[in-house]
Amino acid sequence: MKIKRVGVLGCGLMGSGIAQICAQAGYDTIVREVSNELCERGIGGIGKQLGKAVEKGKLAAEDRDATMGRLRGTTDLADLKECDIIIEAVVENLDLKNEMWRTLDGVCGPETIFASNTSSLTIADMAAATKRPERMVGLHFFNPVPVMKLVEVVKTIATDPQVFQTAFDFAASLGKEPIVCKDNSGFVVNLLLVPYMMDAIRALEQGVATIEDIDKGMRLGTGYPMGPFTLSDFVGLDTLDKIGDIMYNEYKEKRYASPPLLRRMISLGYFGRKSGKGFYDYSGPEPKVMDLGI
Ligand code: CAA
Repeated sequence: MKIKRVGVLGCGLMGSGIAQICAQAGYDTIVREVSNELCERGIGGIGKQLGKAVEKGKLAAEDRDATMGRLRGTTDLADLKECDIIIEAVVENLDLKNEMWRTLDGVCGPETIFASNTSSLTIADMAAATKRPERMVGLHFFNPVPVMKLVEVVKTIATDPQVFQTAFDFAASLGKEPIVCKDNSGFVVNLLLVPYMMDAIRALEQGVATIEDIDKGMRLGTGYPMGPFTLSDFVGLDTLDKIGDIMYNEYKEKRYASPPLLRRMISLGYFGRKSGKGFYDYSGPEPKVMDLGI
């Protein structure tokens, strides 16, 4: 099956990154948001990202214009009816996702592949809401999408092998390095990353070392580009908590459960970079370690 037209659900951080790389790879891309304002904000953000690349001399102005010409926003799910693949990147709420899949099931042709960028829900739980479970896969991208090379391509026990291969080849055509994953909550990366980030918070609670030193230890000791607290703030503490909850419910293992400190921070609106406060305070020119009274 040849993919020509791509639909993206959601134009937030992940959705806009996915829409950007699809349009850059030459696909006609239509991205759906709930309001015109969110569409404009998301697509405007892509324009800014590409503009920066032009300024740095990393992208030709004509390529930026051609990419922007392949991108279109809509608020109407029915506008995605011609798409060959639809990639969902909305909030981690199964009911909301499945409501969209049910609508699209009625709108799209029988060949359209449905793909979810979920980080912790299972693909089977979405496939079950559609009349095309064999055409449902996971395509899990990493933040920032234009930079991170990995895509986890997820097959359920019902995915048609040809559909899986098409999705895998499509991910490679975006300039990414796909890996094959089973439909376990958290796939490969979050299965290992989430307990690591939760353990860092538990180490902090236990007074093993300071935020700065734990981050420094993991950066300089293992070569990670960001320490666990910088990374947690980058991912979003509310997102980390939500992913952890879903994985805890799946496996009933304590290592996925949010430590009390994470819960308290979320209650107080410390969501990490996006809210200006997390393990670091982002209000100044440089991030400053937060005093969490530990
Ligand atoms: N969008 C597009 N490009 C971006 C970007 C963004 N949001 N942020 C940085 N970049 C680009 C920069 O423009 C720069 O490009 P050039 O080299 O072409 O100039 C390049 O990335 C490097 O950026 P910086 O020099 O500003 O900063 P850096 O070297 O510290 O890299 C980073 C930034 C790529 C984010 C790096 O710190 C990193 O890899 N961090 C770890 C990120 C990570 O682990 N992501 C996965 C999170 S988990 C997840 O996403 C899955 C989940 O389900 C929770």
